[in-house]
Amino acid sequence: MPQPLRLGIAGLGTVGVGVVRIMRKHAKLLQQRTGRDIVITAVSARTRDKDRGVSLSGYEWEDDPVALARRGDVDVFVELMGGSDGPAKAAVETAIAAGKDVVTANKAMLALHGQHLAEAAEAEGAVIRFEAAVAGGIPVVKALTEGLAGNEITRVMGVMNGTCNYILTRMQATGQGYNALFEEADKLGYLEADPNLDVGGIDAGHKLALLASIAFGTKVSFDKVVLEGIQRISLDDITRAADMGFRIKLLGVAQLTARGLEQRMTPCLVPALSPLGQLEGGTNMVVLEGDSVEQIVLRGPGAGEGPTASAVMSDVADIARGIRVSTFGQPAASLKDAPVSGSAVPAPYYLRMELQDKPGALAKVATILGEAGVSIDRMRQYGHADATAPVLIVTHKTTSAALDQATAGFRKTDVIVGDPVSLRIEAL
Ligand code: HSE
Repeated sequence: MPQPLRLGIAGLGTVGVGVVRIMRKHAKLLQQRTGRDIVITAVSARTRDKDRGVSLSGYEWEDDPVALARRGDVDVFVELMGGSDGPAKAAVETAIAAGKDVVTANKAMLALHGQHLAEAAEAEGAVIRFEAAVAGGIPVVKALTEGLAGNEITRVMGVMNGTCNYILTRMQATGQGYNALFEEADKLGYLEADPNLDVGGIDAGHKLALLASIAFGTKVSFDKVVLEGIQRISLDDITRAADMGFRIKLLGVAQLTARGLEQRMTPCLVPALSPLGQLEGGTNMVVLEGDSVEQIVLRGPGAGEGPTASAVMSDVADIARGIRVSTFGQPAASLKDAPVSGSAVPAPYYLRMELQDKPGALAKVATILGEAGVSIDRMRQYGHADATAPVLIVTHKTTSAALDQATAGFRKTDVIVGDPVSLRIEAL
């Protein structure tokens, strides 16, 4: 029997406690599956005297995660503290410099420093694994890195923030507005300490940037992700979109085309009856497309103690089995600088506008769209009691540049109140 694999766990919040629980519950199972005992040697957290609902007996304690990362009796440093910089990054760098493997759930750290950390790990012969950083319990990093290794990946797409999906689907189901459901999500403890990470699309953008790097062999480039949160989505948007057969999702899309690498995490419309359209509550879904496999859809819990700890243990088990995969699926030195796509691939768009109810108003809208080269696919005007009429337009495929031109045209007329709401429709 090989030597036990010794873990040092830094961070005993929800995920860290989940990992301890799995280790206590499934030690035998893990040993049978990996052919090796896996043990926790030492742990570290901000507060020692706190009832976490799980026994820490038998584990050494370190106040300082960097000291934990240095310990000679730790083979794998499990970083579950979070934060893109600060103690998490310092401890991971220390572990790598000491030649230790790292398992982390820290999407922010890898989205910002992934290339540097991957290069450092490879120089030391260490690995960094991060299944828990993307889409919680869904084994999407493994699917992309290993399961689809024989494919040229053509598109990665998905709902990767459960909190946003919860708020959007509850708006649809209850008819309540964004603010009320933001508060509900807060009361349920769904929001990150900085809620803008969730509703501003940043958390999901970090995840998309990590998947894009694996998918396209490019250096992780979170700063190139086009980001927009869900804060401006109104109940009107949700109900009108539903009326036209769509759902609104905070949707991540990454694709590498002749124009360059396109990475977007923005509110989009998807067909209501598609798998993404049917995704309710805090669940995540990732769609992966490759030239041979065509399309696979992965669905599951994107957060929470059990699911995220399950993903951490998948990485730990791989290391115990001797499976050593480069951080982003290929040697860090071979990752390309991502040429940034200047504009998104053309798509149909949904426009919602308030139109002055007077003769020729609709004709003016159609003319301006026509002059911008935007063709109308479907249109609906609603009955109304006041001077303006709600109008919805679904366009044929067009570009954001053409829509910008149309918006500039709308501003020069007096027939539309404000700018139209414009949302991209993503095909599945
Ligand atoms: N806050 C995230 C979500 C989970 O709501 O999906 C952690 O990334």
